[in-house]
Amino acid sequence: MLHKIAIAGTIVLLGLTGMARAEGDAAAGKIVFNKCAICHSPLQGVNKIGPSQFGIIGRHSAAIPNFAYSEAMKATNWDWTPEQLDKYLTEPRVVVPGTKMIFPGLKEEADRANVIAYLDTLK
Ligand code: HEC
Repeated sequence: MLHKIAIAGTIVLLGLTGMARAEGDAAAGKIVFNKCAICHSPLQGVNKIGPSQFGIIGRHSAAIPNFAYSEAMKATNWDWTPEQLDKYLTEPRVVVPGTKMIFPGLKEEADRANVIAYLDTLK
């Protein structure tokens, strides 16, 4: 009996550590966002060279009405889920050929997970 409880406890712990890793660290992500901040504001309704990142998680692609998206971005048709952001931020110009987001991408998986965790706080 005790043995079974110990095994169950270990599985729960492993599960929690896995979740923490997948979700990233928002504080570290805020620092990664410095790379985005020349073009993107975290504030609602503030567009710079790129559209506001406020509420980006779960928002439809190319959905800010007063931002002049590229034809390439307008042609995409997805919601910015954490998974979709992870793909896009790895290689923006490969995932959306012709995008006017001139950014080489975040090659480190941890940087992407952390910045996505930070983006999730912008709501
Ligand atoms: C040099 C400027 C620049 C940098 C740096 C940059 N972006 Fe962008 N981003 C843009 C532009 C411009 C667009 C619009 C793309 C288009 O219309 O093709 C965009 C679009 C996006 C979109 C799609 C928004 C929507 O409403 O569909 C996301 C998400 C995004 N950027 C996230 C990021 C993140 C996160 C970073 C940093 C890791 C980053 N960007 C770095 C300029 C930039």
